[in-house]
Amino acid sequence: MTHQVRGVVARGKGAPVSLETIIVPDPGPGEALVKVEACGVCHTDLHYREGGINDDFPFLLGHEAAGVVESVGEGVTDVAPGDFVILNWRAVCGQCRACLRGRPWYCFNTHNAKQKMTLEDGTELSPALGIGAFAEKTLVAAGQCTKVDRSASAAAVGLLGCGVMAGIGAAINTGNVGRGDSVAVIGCGGVGDAAIMGSNLAGAAKIIAVDLDDRKLETARRLGATHTVNSKETDPVEAIRELTGGHGADVVIEAVGRPETYKQAFYARDLAGTVVLVGVPTPEMKLELPLLDVFGRGGALKSSWYGDCLPSRDFPMLVDLYLQGRLNLDAFVTETIALDEVEKAFERMHGGDVLRSVVVL
Ligand SMILES: NC(=O)c1ccc[n+]([C@@H]2O[C@H](COP(=O)([O-])OP(=O)(O)OC[C@H]3O[C@@H](n4cnc5c(N)ncnc54)[C@H](O)[C@@H]3O)[C@@H](O)[C@H]2O)c1
Ligand SMILES: [Zn+2]
Ligand SMILES: [Zn+2]
Repeated sequence: MTHQVRGVVARGKGAPVSLETIIVPDPGPGEALVKVEACGVCHTDLHYREGGINDDFPFLLGHEAAGVVESVGEGVTDVAPGDFVILNWRAVCGQCRACLRGRPWYCFNTHNAKQKMTLEDGTELSPALGIGAFAEKTLVAAGQCTKVDRSASAAAVGLLGCGVMAGIGAAINTGNVGRGDSVAVIGCGGVGDAAIMGSNLAGAAKIIAVDLDDRKLETARRLGATHTVNSKETDPVEAIRELTGGHGADVVIEAVGRPETYKQAFYARDLAGTVVLVGVPTPEMKLELPLLDVFGRGGALKSSWYGDCLPSRDFPMLVDLYLQGRLNLDAFVTETIALDEVEKAFERMHGGDVLRSVVVL
């Protein structure tokens, strides 16, 4: 059996997205059919639409989602119909060399549903990040579903499916931020703000937010930054050093994804400190650093894939913190919109006053 539902499709490079009828197959072995309740609009969806990820048009967009499992295929035991789940884009395989060494958050062989969702004429769709959740229903690998507490708001906790988890994880998993640490976060969009919250959760004593936009800095302060630096007006490296006794921060999180901000992060950290790159660069970008500085400053230069999260470990824990009022995920939901308003949300992204528009179904 198949399901006819509405979904947001990007048909060609740069063309506005359209709401289309899509055909979703019943789940096969290892797959799950999910009734989507909410899905955040992320920059990566816009990247897909602009052809910046790959040319596999048409795309079914949307990937920061929560919903309810409607049915599961053969052999699926971890989730069952009726479960409230957050979708993830790194379902671990359990068998690659990273998984076998007990480091599944690095899994080198993550997977998605095998069957394809299509347009009415049979054209196969490429789901964004293997999810495709700007749709009433979507088909994923069962491992992409993590069951969490049903009483949480889908619009808020669905955001853990991408940027918010990447930011929190960059701080608590990759950066290993600990009690008393000083942290600087460069770039305070959804990901940077989540890194600020993560640092706060981990007990950082000083959290310095850096951005070019004062409105972003105001939000960052509301979400837990103790100090702010506008790097359009002030040299951020100098400012961070000044705020940390002249030494630099223990952990600097780069949440922009550009060579110049990476360099700022590199020089704004204390000796033997940690740089975490969670911002995603584009293929033409190059970084040049004196190798002697890389050696002489010591410490760790790390990248953070999806916040080095393990959804089965991190999603339920963070949802619990949210329900206890200790993690303000609602602060990321600037507005809720309908399925046919995704294009408008893309336009608003450039305005700087939206952290996340969330499609609610
Ligand atoms: N590693 C991962 O798994 C992962 C997951 C999701 C997103 N990301 C990446 O994280 C990055 C941030 O995502 P987002 O959703 O927060 O984007 P965003 O556009 O909402 O935020 C970016 C912020 O950086 C600021 N900024 C831009 N240039 C700057 C500069 N030179 N100095 C200081 N601040 C600057 C902007 O003002 C903005 O506030 C993106 O590169 C995104 O692709 C990574
Ligand atoms: Zn694996
Ligand atoms: Zn995303």
